[in-house]
Amino acid sequence: MAARSHALVVPFVALAAALAAVPVHSADPPPAGAAPDAAGFKGTVQPFLTAHCVRCHNAKKAEGKLDLTALGADLAAGKGADAWQAVADRMSAGEMPPEGAKQPDPAAIKAVTGWVERELAKAGKTGATAPGSLRTGNHVPHHLLFGPDAGKAPLDNPPRLWRVSPFIYAEAAKAFKGLTLAQPFALPPGDGFKDTAAVGGLDESTTAQLMRNAETIADEQLALRKVANKKPVKELAPLLDPAPTRAQIDAAVQYQFQLVLKRKPAADELKRFAELYAAAAKLGGPEGGARAVLVAVLMQPEASFRSELGLGAAAGGKRVLAPREVAFAVAYALTDRAPDAELLKAADTGKLATPADVSREVARIFADPKADKPRVLRFFREYFGYGGATEVFKDAKPFPAHNARGLVEDTDRLVRDIVAADKDVFVELFTTNKSYVHHTTTERDRKQVADALAKYEEDKKKDPAKAAAKGPPNLESKRSYLAYGLSDFPASQPVELPKDQRAGVLTQPAWLVANSENFDNHAIRRGKWVRERLLGGTVPDVPITVDAQLPDAPHKTLRERMEVTKQAYCWGCHKRMNPLGLAFEQFDHFGRFRTQEQVTVEATDAKGKKTTALKLVPLDTSGLVDGTGDPAVDGPAPSAVELVRRLAKTDRARQVFVRHAFRFWMGRDENPGDARTLMAADQAYLKSGGSMRALVTSLLTSESFLYRTAK
Ligand code: HEC
Ligand code: HEC
Repeated sequence: MAARSHALVVPFVALAAALAAVPVHSADPPPAGAAPDAAGFKGTVQPFLTAHCVRCHNAKKAEGKLDLTALGADLAAGKGADAWQAVADRMSAGEMPPEGAKQPDPAAIKAVTGWVERELAKAGKTGATAPGSLRTGNHVPHHLLFGPDAGKAPLDNPPRLWRVSPFIYAEAAKAFKGLTLAQPFALPPGDGFKDTAAVGGLDESTTAQLMRNAETIADEQLALRKVANKKPVKELAPLLDPAPTRAQIDAAVQYQFQLVLKRKPAADELKRFAELYAAAAKLGGPEGGARAVLVAVLMQPEASFRSELGLGAAAGGKRVLAPREVAFAVAYALTDRAPDAELLKAADTGKLATPADVSREVARIFADPKADKPRVLRFFREYFGYGGATEVFKDAKPFPAHNARGLVEDTDRLVRDIVAADKDVFVELFTTNKSYVHHTTTERDRKQVADALAKYEEDKKKDPAKAAAKGPPNLESKRSYLAYGLSDFPASQPVELPKDQRAGVLTQPAWLVANSENFDNHAIRRGKWVRERLLGGTVPDVPITVDAQLPDAPHKTLRERMEVTKQAYCWGCHKRMNPLGLAFEQFDHFGRFRTQEQVTVEATDAKGKKTTALKLVPLDTSGLVDGTGDPAVDGPAPSAVELVRRLAKTDRARQVFVRHAFRFWMGRDENPGDARTLMAADQAYLKSGGSMRALVTSLLTSESFLYRTAK
C-alpha cells in the first residue's frame, strides 16, 4: 500500500509542474468562482450593448425573446449564463447586430466577447468559445484566410500539451501482449472532429484508470500475477533481488523509459527513480520498490500527453518544435503509433530540423505499405459523418433489406479508393457516380438468394402442390441492392450508378441515412452540413426557448411540414439550412433515389370504416444556395445531385474543405495567423492535380504545425 502512494506522488508532482508551466491557451482562464468583474461590465460591456443592441433587445421589444437590459454582471446568478453564451456566440460569428444595422468596431466586439468568455469561465461554464472546440472555426471570415487581404497576421499558436487519443493508448497497450487494459480515455460525443488539443487534462477517474492499468502492466512485467511459468522481463528481474545495485536499477529504468517513452532517461531522472526505488522498497520490500518505479514511468505525463510546447530555438516571436516533438507530431498525424525507429533516428541525428526533412519523412510513411495510415480515413469519416448511419434506428417493414453497416462499409471503401488514387480527391468525393453495393455481403447474399430459388425449384419438382401452397421464397430482406436503385446484385464492383442519381458521398445511402430520422429525411441537418462543411457558414444553436418539432401531419410532405420554420423568428436561422437540405428530398430516408413521394391520407375501407392509405404526390427537390456573397456559388439548385456537383467546382467549397483538413491535422481551429498555411495547402493541392497527400504534407510542413508562439 505504502509503495502505491509513493508511485502516485511522483507522477502527479511532475504532471502538475508540467501543466502549470504551460500557458495552454493564450489567455489563461481565470479560476472558477472568482468575483464578477463589475467594473468591466460598467465600463465596457454595458455601454456597448446600449449603443448597438438594446434598441432591439429591451423589456418592451425583446427580439429573439432576449432582453439585454435584464442581464447583469454576475453570470452565475439566474439564467444569465445561457443568454450571455448566446450573446458571445452571435457576436463572434458576426451575426449580431444583424446585417443592415450599423456594425461595431471589431476591437470593441473582441473586448465584449472576451469579457463574456472570462466571466463564463468564472461561472464554471466554458464550451462553445473554448479555443480549439472546433465549433468556432467557421466564425473566422473566409476572406481573412484566403485571398488578397489574407496572410498578414502573425502566427497565433500558443504552446500546448495534447492528450493522446484512445486510439494511441490502445496501440501503445499492444506492447503488453495478452493483457486486457480498460481504456482510460474517451473522446467527446457529437459530430465532427473529436481528437483535438482542447480535449484537456486528466480528471480523477481517468487518472485512477491509468493508475490501475499501470499497476497491471507492472505486475505483468514483474510476473507478480501468479501465472504459472511466467518469468519477469529479463532487464527488470534484478529489481526483485533483495538489494539491487544502482547500475541494475538504472538499467531497469532505462528499459522502461525506452519501452514507454521512447527515449533515454537523463542523469537526474535516473537519480530520482533510484531514490524512489529505495524509499518504496523500505516500506514494501523489493516488490514494492520495483512496482513503484515501473508504475511511475508509465504514469509520466509524457506517456499521456503529446508535448507540443515548442522546445526548440526561438526567433521572431515564435519557437520551433524540438526534433522529438516533431517526430511525435508527424507520427500521430498519420498513424496511432509512436514514431518508428527511422523517425526517432532522424530526430536524434539532426535530420528533422527543416520543413524539407519533415516532408521527406511524411513521404516515406505515406509510401510505406506496411505503415497503416488510419488517421486519413478517420478524417474523412469524421468530416462526412456517414458512420452515424448505424445509429439511426429504422423500422424494417418499409424496407426489409436495409443494412446500415453494409452501407457504411460501402462508403468507406469508396473513400479509400478515391484517396488511394489521390487525384482530384475533393471533386471526386463530391461527384463520382461510382459506388460499392454492400460489397462485404454481396457474395453471401447472392448465394443465399440463388440457394433459396434452387431449393424452391427442387421442392416444386418433388411435391408441386406443397410448393405451390408455400409459394416462392420471400427474398425481400436480401435485396439490399435496392438501396442503390439497382435491379440485381452488380456483377462487379464498384458499379457506375446513373449520373443523374448519384454524385459522391453526400448522395451515398450511408450519408443520407446518417442524416435522417427514424421515419423521414432530416432536411434541416443535411442543410446544416452543407452550410457548415461546404460553404463554411455558421448557424447558431437552436435557442433553448424553441420547441424544435415539426407538426405531426402525415398527410403533408416534409417540405410542407417545414413551413413552420418560415416564421420570421425561426427563418433567420432556418433559411441557412432548409433550402440546402430540401434538395436532398431526391432520396428517401433509406437513401433510395426516388421520383415520387408518399404521404398518408385518410381513407374508408370496403366496410365503411375509417383507415389510412398511402398516396403518391409529386416530388419537389428544388433547393437554393444563397448568402455566400459569391455569384459563382449562389443560385437555385434543382436537386441535390446538381447542388453538390456545382459546389464541388467552386474555390469556396474546396477552401472550406482545406479549412476542415487543417482543423483535423492541427487539432484546433484556424485563425487569421494561419492564412499562409491554409493558402499554401490549397495551392499544394491544386498544383498536384488534387492530391490529398500533397495537401497533408503541406499542412505538416507549415508554420502552423511546426511553430508555437513565444510569449
Ligand atoms: C435591428 C435589431 C437588432 C439589433 C440591433 C440586434 N439584434 Fe439581436 N436579434 C434580433 C432579432 C430579430 C433576433 C431574432 C432572430 C434571430 O435569432 O436571428 C435576434 C436574436 C438575438 C440573439 C438570439 C437569442 C436567442 O434566444 O438565442 C442574441 C443572443 C442576440 N440577438 C444578441 C444581440 C446583440 C449582442 C446585439 C448587439 C451587438 C444585437 N443582438 C443587436 C434583432 C437585433
Ligand atoms: C438561433 C437559430 C435558430 C432559431 C431561431 C430556430 N432554430 Fe430550429 N434549429 C436550429 C438548428 C441549428 C437546428 C439543427 C439542430 C441539429 O443539428 O439537428 C434546428 C433544428 C430544428 C428542428 C429539427 C429538430 C430535430 O433535430 O429534429 C426543428 C423542427 C426546428 N429547428 C424548428 C424551429 C422552429 C419552429 C423555430 C421557430 C419557432 C426554430 N426552429 C428557430 C436553429 C434555430
